[in-house]
Amino acid sequence: MPTARETGNCQLILALDIEERADAIELVKKTGGELEWVKIGLQMFTRYGPDYVREIGALGKKIFLDLKLHDIPNTVAKAIASVSDLPIHMLTLHTCGGREMMEWAVKAQQEHKPDLQLLGVTVLTSMDANGLAEMGIAESVENRISRLARLAQDSGMTGLVCSPHEVSLLKQTLGSSITLVTPGVRPAGADAGDQKRIMTPAKAAEAGSDFIVVGRPIYQADDPAAVVARIRSELS
Ligand code: C5P
Repeated sequence: MPTARETGNCQLILALDIEERADAIELVKKTGGELEWVKIGLQMFTRYGPDYVREIGALGKKIFLDLKLHDIPNTVAKAIASVSDLPIHMLTLHTCGGREMMEWAVKAQQEHKPDLQLLGVTVLTSMDANGLAEMGIAESVENRISRLARLAQDSGMTGLVCSPHEVSLLKQTLGSSITLVTPGVRPAGADAGDQKRIMTPAKAAEAGSDFIVVGRPIYQADDPAAVVARIRSELS
């Protein structure tokens, strides 16, 4: 998967966190040619399943399937084989599943779906130092993110999901060829909602994000296609 540095272009992914299948399809149709990528997460995948993914794919969109896999190596590898016939281009897994899990995942991806970008999730943004301490993890959130990011790269992973605030550190630590996908992005003036450490699309792109993920500011807008167009012009 080419990085923004290689394409000169940070790309927008719309998070389809929508209750109803028909509403999601309508939204995707409304954004038309302005939008290339969508993210389908657990909310919709657990309700509507693989056929829904195929339906969105048939509308001409590239799909980031955000399933955050975390299990024993064999099960994760089998899950990757199972999604390999879906029209998806990115898939997430938890880096805290460890080296062996990630190595098996990469092997399964290379064998079954060579054009799929696996993305590692390090520390969930809902987690803070107290939450880590409760699980017996004494290190800071930042150290843990760096540790897990390095472990992911050592295990053969070539992409990560992270906050836009972590992008420059991770590019410095891991090299510019790592693909970084960042949620927590808000166009200037948009409501932050529950996102705490936000950045604008332009700043995230400047920091080195390869892809930004934006949900509510687009799907809650009166004219989603116009917001997509504005974000895209900010990115270019
Ligand atoms: O609506 P909003 O733009 O906040 O949506 C962001 C999307 O990115 C949601 O689907 C959310 O689950 C996802 N996400 C996130 N923070 C992370 C990982 C994923 O906001 N650390």
